[in-house]
Amino acid sequence: MKTYKIALIKGDGIGPEIIDEAVKVLDAVASCCDIEFSYEEALMGGCAYDITGDPLPQETINISLNSDAVLFGAIGGQKWDNLPREKRPESGLLRFRKELGVYANLRPATVFDELINASSLKPEVIKGVDLMVVRELIGGIYFGEPRGRDENRGWNTMVYTRDEIVRIAHQAFKIAMTRSKRVCSIDKANVLDVSQLWRDVVTEVGREYPEVELTHMYVDNAAMQLIRDPRQFDVMLTGNIFGDILSDEASMLSGSIGLLPSASIGAKIGVYEPIHGSAPDIAGQGIANPIATILSASMMLRYALGENIAADKIESAVKRALKEGYRTKDLAQYDAKEVCSTSEMGSIIANYAAK
Ligand code: IPM
Ligand code: MG
Repeated sequence: MKTYKIALIKGDGIGPEIIDEAVKVLDAVASCCDIEFSYEEALMGGCAYDITGDPLPQETINISLNSDAVLFGAIGGQKWDNLPREKRPESGLLRFRKELGVYANLRPATVFDELINASSLKPEVIKGVDLMVVRELIGGIYFGEPRGRDENRGWNTMVYTRDEIVRIAHQAFKIAMTRSKRVCSIDKANVLDVSQLWRDVVTEVGREYPEVELTHMYVDNAAMQLIRDPRQFDVMLTGNIFGDILSDEASMLSGSIGLLPSASIGAKIGVYEPIHGSAPDIAGQGIANPIATILSASMMLRYALGENIAADKIESAVKRALKEGYRTKDLAQYDAKEVCSTSEMGSIIANYAAK
């Protein structure tokens, strides 16, 4: 039997509740796939700041680097919003991504047929949507220097080097090869120099993947096209901030941001996390939707551990729970047969996944 070491970073708000459910589901599939998980918890975000004075203690990095993969909940909350920037939960997360070197953030957006009415868009526009945002995660304007502010001016720098663009472009083309073989690269090359380089380098890398159709789109148009006709997209390749924005937009195609997982990869150890935040307003009430985190655990099985059968089992279990009409509160108005709590949803999915 194979044992995998998983670092668990529960974080703030609903983080602990949703991670507990993902662990339940992982343990359920483990028993029937001849694998086993050992978990080690680590602190990040506001809870880490409260205990250690640092939103990202060194121990968390050590535990993560010592694991096979990191499963991460969510961080942040109003309580910590007024701290100096480097003490804020979000700074801990950005530093974490950078320290691990996870430069590629994969954010799939799919529409479950069972939830076709949950989206604010018309069913005929979103039926069958299956796209993947491949977002560069440790460069661009989030990290560029110089940055700063004084009394009257604030400044950040959007910068990409050729090497940074090359490696994220390869990720996008490789992923496209396993899907519908289409990459749409997003930029603002009509205005930004950094985007002109981005477009040129992506085009060069694209020549190594003759089977993949490469198109380019300005980010403002992409924001519109995502709502107008989202099925035109297969892989959307973006820089850091454009991907941050477009992936939130894409999540709404599916009806609830509580459904979408993500994987941050490219380094030895990957980070698997829901794309939603810590939702402090609903924390502790048992109403959060654990599905995004459960599907993140499934991405972890697939991308980090190569346990595709276990990953498939989790995905089927989620689909089955939705098909049978189980819904957490966020989706209660959409064809629900039974409204369930966070932990009931976790148990139902775990139960199906174990079969
Ligand atoms: C995300 C989040 C983060 C980001 C924040 C919390 C720093 O919005 O993962 O999309 O901007 O990358
Ligand atoms: Mg975001």
